[in-house]
Amino acid sequence: MITPIQGFSKLTKDQKIKWIAEKYTTNTQETITTLTKYWNTDATLQKLHDEFIENTISNYYLPLGIAPNFLINNKLYAIPMAIEESSVVAAASKAAKFWLGKGGFKTTVLGTEKVGQVHFMYKGDSKKLKTFFDYIKPILLKDSLHLTQNMVKRGGGVLDIELRNKTKDLADYYQLHCTFETKDAMGANFINSCLEQFAQTLKREAENYSDFTTNDEKVEVVMSILSNYVPNCIVKAEVSCPVEDLNDDKTIAPTEFAKKMIRAVNIAKVEPYRAVTHNKGIMNGIDAVVLATGNDFRAIEAGIHAYAAKNGSYTSLTHASIDKGIFKFWIEIPLALGTIGGLTGLHPLVKLALEILQKPTAKDLMQIVAVAGLAQNFAAVRSLVTTGIQQGHMKMHLMNILNQLGATDDEKNILVNHFKKNTVTHSGVISEFEKLRKN
Ligand code: MEV
Repeated sequence: MITPIQGFSKLTKDQKIKWIAEKYTTNTQETITTLTKYWNTDATLQKLHDEFIENTISNYYLPLGIAPNFLINNKLYAIPMAIEESSVVAAASKAAKFWLGKGGFKTTVLGTEKVGQVHFMYKGDSKKLKTFFDYIKPILLKDSLHLTQNMVKRGGGVLDIELRNKTKDLADYYQLHCTFETKDAMGANFINSCLEQFAQTLKREAENYSDFTTNDEKVEVVMSILSNYVPNCIVKAEVSCPVEDLNDDKTIAPTEFAKKMIRAVNIAKVEPYRAVTHNKGIMNGIDAVVLATGNDFRAIEAGIHAYAAKNGSYTSLTHASIDKGIFKFWIEIPLALGTIGGLTGLHPLVKLALEILQKPTAKDLMQIVAVAGLAQNFAAVRSLVTTGIQQGHMKMHLMNILNQLGATDDEKNILVNHFKKNTVTHSGVISEFEKLRKN
């Protein structure tokens, strides 16, 4: 029987590995070998990774791939993507190439405002609270100067603090709804530090406010935290071309292709079951670049999905139209990203990814990431409405199956060639592999 452990974090890395291997795995030695095999031989680099989180026992690798030929606002990018799903980088590259000769991607940042809130309770008269808030607003800003000075020097800072009455949704509930500009930083630490300072000031000033005399007029701070919902930190990316130029695929007429694309997007607009998968395909591109550039993909996911449901039902993040003979395909999403701070200056591969992207500002990165999402969606929907998705997926999956089977390089070459002309299925690959081995 396994009993709880006290002080796990205080054990050395070797002790932690031994403990987990002995308690939770069947082959202690094999577990130790697997975990240590993934350690970096460069001890300094390994120490860096060890210290990213608590209780590190090894490194978890994902492939880092490159999707080249992305023309974005007339500049050519090769986009680094960290992802395990076999078809994603191939699909992105294909979409990049498709649009390369058609003017490429055009992008615009529509806003960069970040949000944070101090959530608090107050039972008294709301008008009295408003008068109190108007009085303390300059004090809130003054008290946080030591935190905001540097950000202000970089052109950012606190944009506004608003008192929001949420008592219709929850009894006695109010917020300081705060907006920020954090320039090239994602800004989570900056925002949270400011919010905690606002909360302290709010509490102190409420305690000393002479017009708050009754018990109901107490301010009780519940929590202070940034919001990952950033509907005013928005980027738009689009591609467009005359319908007749959509002629890359000789098996389908350009007009029919354009109409099928629009119909597929319209289905995702009205049908949440489809919208979720449609948007998942978009996130394949977005997460991969967000991860490669050291940003927080959970924050990005949460914010984007909330945005997809902003009008009350979950819908497509992309849009498509034909107007005066021009096919247009676009995306508009919130993206709170950073190119300084966090992992960006620490993780050598993140630094390199940002260098490959020509050292982007946060605004540049918003545009690149939005393009990756749009390209991924274009590639997926294109396959779905033409060949079906499995053709491409299984081609890419072939290598995974062959690796699982332990195929040698020669065997892989033979079987990849064979499946250029034959449909890839899991059982088909196994049977061809066995045939080859017998021979
Ligand atoms: C698979 O990872 C993504 C797709 O399902 C996206 C889509 O259906 O649009 C292919």
